[in-house]
Parts: sequence; structure tokens; C-alpha cells
Amino acid sequence: MGIAETPAPAAVIVLAAGAGTRMKSRMPKVLHEIGGRSLLVHAVGAAEGAGPAELVVVLRHERERVAEHLAQHASEVSVADQDEIPGTGRAVQCGLEQVVATEGTVLVTYGDVPLLDPATLRDLVAAHEAAAAAVTVLSARVPDPTGYGRILRSEDGSEVLGIVEHKDADESQRAIDEINSGIYAFDLAVLRDALSRIGTDNAQGEMYLTDVLSIARQDGRRVRASVTEDVMMVEGVNDRVQLAQLGAEMNRRILERHMRAGVTIVDPATTWIDADVTIAQDAVVLPGVQLHGATDIGEEAVIGPDTTLRDTEVGARAEVVRSHVLLAVIGEGADVGPFSYLRAGTQLGAGGKIGGFVETKNAVIAQGAKVPHLSYVGDAEIGEGSNIGAGTIVANYDGVDKHRTTVGKHVRVGSDNILVAPVSIGDGAATGAGTTVRKDVPPGALGVSAVSQRNMEGWTLRRRAGTAAGDAARAALGTEEGAADRTPAGTAAEEHKEHEQR
Ligand code: UD1
Ligand code: MG
Repeated sequence: MGIAETPAPAAVIVLAAGAGTRMKSRMPKVLHEIGGRSLLVHAVGAAEGAGPAELVVVLRHERERVAEHLAQHASEVSVADQDEIPGTGRAVQCGLEQVVATEGTVLVTYGDVPLLDPATLRDLVAAHEAAAAAVTVLSARVPDPTGYGRILRSEDGSEVLGIVEHKDADESQRAIDEINSGIYAFDLAVLRDALSRIGTDNAQGEMYLTDVLSIARQDGRRVRASVTEDVMMVEGVNDRVQLAQLGAEMNRRILERHMRAGVTIVDPATTWIDADVTIAQDAVVLPGVQLHGATDIGEEAVIGPDTTLRDTEVGARAEVVRSHVLLAVIGEGADVGPFSYLRAGTQLGAGGKIGGFVETKNAVIAQGAKVPHLSYVGDAEIGEGSNIGAGTIVANYDGVDKHRTTVGKHVRVGSDNILVAPVSIGDGAATGAGTTVRKDVPPGALGVSAVSQRNMEGWTLRRRAGTAAGDAARAALGTEEGAADRTPAGTAAEEHKEHEQR
């Protein structure tokens, strides 16, 4: 069934009031992340995808912290507070207090079930409404049903009689392998009424939402179970082992989606891609790559091996090899790496290059400009077609403030320069090797600051006689001079003299 044909629920209530003690964490369970989003934001995303008129999240444990997270990441959600009465039934009752609608279908889901998808929820609503059921529970058959509520069916299996919690179940009920996923579609009016009639007379002294099924059935209403084949999709996170398992499964599904859309992923086993990452067709992801956050990869770009990108835009046909990149924009056909570190605010123009052992930050490197080797470029602008010599450092920080450096178009900065900010080098200018640029270099000028070179003839022969260097020099010069032994006293005096001359 297409999205347009599927009915939308009146409301979705997402339960997230539980403490999640088995996570053993200071952070609320539902704020733990997989695939670059919190469990709760995944769950709310699925709920939103079902297209409800109203969306309510029920909170209690760490209420303020979780509500703030929701406000940041899912603004269209209203928060309901569960009181001290425990249980999923009470949680839904508190959630319903926020729901304005009086009729229609209400979905209940959990904040700790991250793999659930909108299509499954829409199909549940469709099946529920087509059967004119009062309750439809999403169930699954699992190899080990321990801990779950079990689905009780009529003898021929066609009707659902109710759900019994593991702790309340007898031996024969515990042998049932069809479990309650905790995800349901309810008729809103039936749900409100049944919840007002459930108690806490059970093994856990809680208001069980599951009791709504037997109450509805006793009232002569239709109760159904819809069995899902996709067990992982309805699985919740209770501890960090499950967090890792569901994280790996989510990653596997994300990779598969990209591969089916035309992205080459050479080694899915070592590739991690967050849920929000977008990748264009014919991009190639090599082994050992992590793509995080709002990263966006262009057509035919090649990423990796061994590269981490976060919140980074990579243009078509660009290559990023063995690099670590945060909040950067890499232009079309640009080249990054190997071993480059691009920090926030780096913008590399089309066809530009950031090469080996280069760190950049808040740096706009224009089209065709290159920083090929061993450099730091921070708080700087490098113009179109310019080249920054190997080993050049932009000294952007004077110990108190950061300053900007501007390099014009088609500039040649020599090797091993220090550009002491604030400073600018004009269009078409150049600097000599080893220049410390403290003053602006005008357009078209050559800036040099290095002391001019002086050669002390025969130095090695006098000072390093008897060493391999002395022998090599002597052989090259064809003289016997270097064969003489060094005199340590003389050496010190000579060295002092040479030093004075510098
Ligand atoms: C519940 C179901 C069980 C089902 C299982 C699936 C009931 C009585 N049992 O059991 O049949 O097989 O889920 O995982 O419903 N929550 C609240 N408020 C509460 C209690 C729980 O909001 O007072 C929330 C939790 O945050 C969690 C969800 O409800 O997101 C499920 O709670 P949990 O304690 O895990 O339920 P189970 O006892 O495992
Ligand atoms: Mg649970």
C-alpha cells in the first residue's frame, strides 16, 4: 500500500518514562545514541513518519533533561508527565490526557525501540482499521521469549484472548514463543475506557497496558495480533550490549539502503554511517570509513580508506584519503589527504588540495589553491590558484587573540614560511623559502626575510676531520687537508668565532 492510501493515526503516544537502570548510566537511557541520533529521536522519527495529528511523549525519569533534548531535536512533540503510579497502562493514561482527539486510532510505541520504521506503523494502522479491531498488537515469534509478555490465543489461533506478563505467566504460558512487542494500535475510545478499569493486582503491582486487551475482549470487541517477521525492528534497548547490537543492525540497514541506491561500499564490516548522512550515486566508500552527523557526499566522490567525516560536505568527484574532517566543505574534484586534519570552518574550493600532515581551521582555500605538505592554516583565506609551500605555518594566535591572514590569488608562498597574523600577501606575490612574513607583501612583490647565505669554505675539513663527512669532503675536494686530527681546543675557539660572524 502506498503512503497516500494508508490511513494516518489520530495520535501516537511514545512511552519514555522508565529509568533504564540496566544501562548503568548517568545519562537517561533514551538519550543514548546509535546511528548519530538518540534512541528517543529515532523513536519519535518513526512516530512522526506515521503522520499522526498529535504526538505525545510520556516522561518521568530525568524529565527536564529529556524534555530539553526533545525540544532541541523534535519540536513538534508534546510532553506528558507520568505520576508516581507505575506501569505502561498508567503511562498511556497520562499520555492520553494530552490528546485532544476523542475518536480514531492511537498508536503506542516505546522511546527505546530505535529500529521501528514509519512503514511498519502505517501498515499496523491499516491492518487495524481494515479489521475494524479495537486493539491490534504487533507481535513477533522469538527463539527466547524470556521476560516478554506472551500473546494468548484461542485454540485455533485465530483470536487473541490477551497478554500475560512473563512474571505472571504459568509454565504452559511461558512456553509460548509469540511475544508482545509493546507496539499497538488502539481504538481511542476503547483505550480510554479500558484504562479507567485496570488495576495493579499483578506480580509487579503496576498498571499493565496489556490488560486493555483482555478487557476489550471481555467487552466483546475484536482484538488482533499482527505478527512481524522483523524481530530486530521491534526490539528495545535495555543495556549497553543491546545498544551495541541494535547500533550494528541499524548501521547494516543504513549501508544496505545506500548500496541499493547506487553507492559502492567496499567493506560494510568496517564502515559506519549515521542515519542522517546523504550520499549521491556512484560515490565510493572504502574500508574503515565513518560518516557522521549531517555529512553529505557528492557523486563519484571517493572517501577513505580510514577516514572520519563529521557534518561535512564533500563535492562531486572529490577524494578524501585517510583523514579526519569536522564541519568542513570540500569542493568538487578537490583532493584531501592522506593524513589531513580539517577542522571546523575549513572550506576547500573546487579542484583544491589539502595534502599530507596538514591541519586547517576556519580557513577558506579557494578554487585550485593548494596546501600540499606539512602545514597549519588557521583563520586564513587563500586565494584562487595559490600554493602554500611545504612546512608553512600560519601563526594565527598571539597568545591573547586570534588574527586573520589573507593570501591573494596565484601567490607562491615558499617552503617553511611563517605567516604571522594579521598579515596579507597580495595577488601574484611570492615569498622566499624560510620567510617569516610579519609585514604585508604587496601584489606582485617577492617577500624575503631569511638571512642571506654565507659559505665557510673548507669548514668540514677543519672541523670534522676524521669523520665520514670529513673523508667525503676531502675526496670531493681532492685535498689532503682533512686528514689531520681535530684539535678540540682549537675547535671550540673556531666555533665561537664563526658564531660571532652570523
Ligand atoms: C512491556 C510489556 C510486555 C512486552 C515488553 C516489550 C507491559 C505490562 N508489558 O514489558 O508485555 O513484552 O514491554 O518490551 O506493558 N514505561 C513508562 N512508564 C512506566 C513503565 C514503563 O513510560 O511506568 C515505558 C518504558 O520507559 C519503556 C516501555 O514503557 O519505554 C516499556 O517498559 P518496560 O519496563 O521495558 O516494560 P516491560 O516490563 O519490559
Ligand atoms: Mg523493556
